[in-house]
Amino acid sequence: MKKRYTLEQKHWDSPTDHAMPEHSRVPASFTVGNVRIAPATVLAPMAGVTDTVFRRFIKNASLFAVAPTPSQNLLSFRSEAEESASLSSQIEAPTTNQQSGCGLIMTEFTSADGLSRTRESKRKRYLTFYDDEHPISAQLFGSNPATLADSARIVQDCGFDLVDLNLGCPAKRVVSCNGGSGLLRDLPLIERIFRAIRAAVSIPFTVKFRMGWSDAEIVCVQLARLAEECGLNAVALHARTREDGYTGQARWEYIAAVKDAVRIPVIGNGDIRTPEDAAAMVHATGCDAIMIGRGAPANPWIFRQIAQYTATKEAAGVGTYDVPTDQDRYRMVRTYFQMLVDEIAQEEAAEAARAAALIASGQIVNGEQMLKAQRHRDCVGKMKQFAAWFTHGIPNGSSLRKSIFEARSGPAVLAAVESFFATRHDQPAQEAPPAEAFPLFADTCG
Ligand SMILES: Cc1cc2nc3c(=O)[nH]c(=O)nc-3n(C[C@H](O)[C@H](O)[C@H](O)COP(=O)(O)O)c2cc1C
Repeated sequence: MKKRYTLEQKHWDSPTDHAMPEHSRVPASFTVGNVRIAPATVLAPMAGVTDTVFRRFIKNASLFAVAPTPSQNLLSFRSEAEESASLSSQIEAPTTNQQSGCGLIMTEFTSADGLSRTRESKRKRYLTFYDDEHPISAQLFGSNPATLADSARIVQDCGFDLVDLNLGCPAKRVVSCNGGSGLLRDLPLIERIFRAIRAAVSIPFTVKFRMGWSDAEIVCVQLARLAEECGLNAVALHARTREDGYTGQARWEYIAAVKDAVRIPVIGNGDIRTPEDAAAMVHATGCDAIMIGRGAPANPWIFRQIAQYTATKEAAGVGTYDVPTDQDRYRMVRTYFQMLVDEIAQEEAAEAARAAALIASGQIVNGEQMLKAQRHRDCVGKMKQFAAWFTHGIPNGSSLRKSIFEARSGPAVLAAVESFFATRHDQPAQEAPPAEAFPLFADTCG
């Protein structure tokens, strides 16, 4: 039986450990239409995972200090080519020496039908993002060209930097409406959708797809060419078919074939779990950027590690990156939980203000308590979900997962995390770290 989007997919079917290739690394930047993305790394859209809290959490976890290169210290001249090749020269915010190693983030997929039917005041629920999330792409799914074009316009009006079309989702409820990977068997309809969306928006437009429906119906090269012809600005390939689900290994050779076929940027996706995998994918396929899905909740430091590897390789000729200690892991869990709680508090404050306005204008407000309870349930659900991803592979992680799943409230989940890490340390952390604190890690590996 094929797997669908469930938590089980946090496991890789048969992961390959790649060695770090000697001369390849993830590019310092790439450009999609008029949007420059630096570094060339993308957080994959993941339904139920990549909401605004998770996206900002990953962006923050990816922050790394940009040290001046030796040549800058010596005030030596660098050629233009050297300048643009240097990661540290790509920093656009001189007020800080920190940059996020995650170049682009994407929303969870959003139904175009749902979006176009929803009242403007309620759309925010689907399309919430904060200023510090730029550049950000909104992903849509659907099969009706006009509805998708309308929704792309909504996305553009909301201030997103890019819009993406999902042609990869294997979930039955999406495929049965001809959305996601269901469309892969109807290239003429895909062309109509591409043209309708292209005509509707001026922001960069991209598509994320699988190789095809099955091994007998592989269309990725044809599809990438069609995208280029229709004026799309980049393509992202998850190198599996719909029938593959998440089984086996992603077949990176198809990313290479797509890269050979088009001039627009190609984003490679599938089975990147380490900085070594990321560089190996670039080496094997020549892709312009890499996209990471399951690797992000399993190892929120992965974008930072890739950036550190690139920067140290460039500065010193030897690539290294930090690996997290148990205390770092503990802080990471707490930080994410705190961000979830803060977001709920913010939503509740906005809700209370809206309710007060309705009461003042004589209208009755119903369902507030229910909404509040639902939010808290969602928050505890997200805590459990993240803990499950994050503790996979940690020694004795299954005992933590068990106690987390038995917890019934946010504080109970946190207590389970605290007691787990306390048993692993002489001096467990007693205080919650500030949300932005991501200290340097103790150990370093090459
Ligand atoms: C829980 C989950 C939800 C996903 N949701 C989406 C989605 O909304 N849109 C999409 O294009 N892909 C979705 N995907 C697929 C990922 O974006 C990505 O293509 C896939 O996980 C392979 O990359 P990885 O090996 O780095 O995880 C989802 C994957 C998972 C595990």
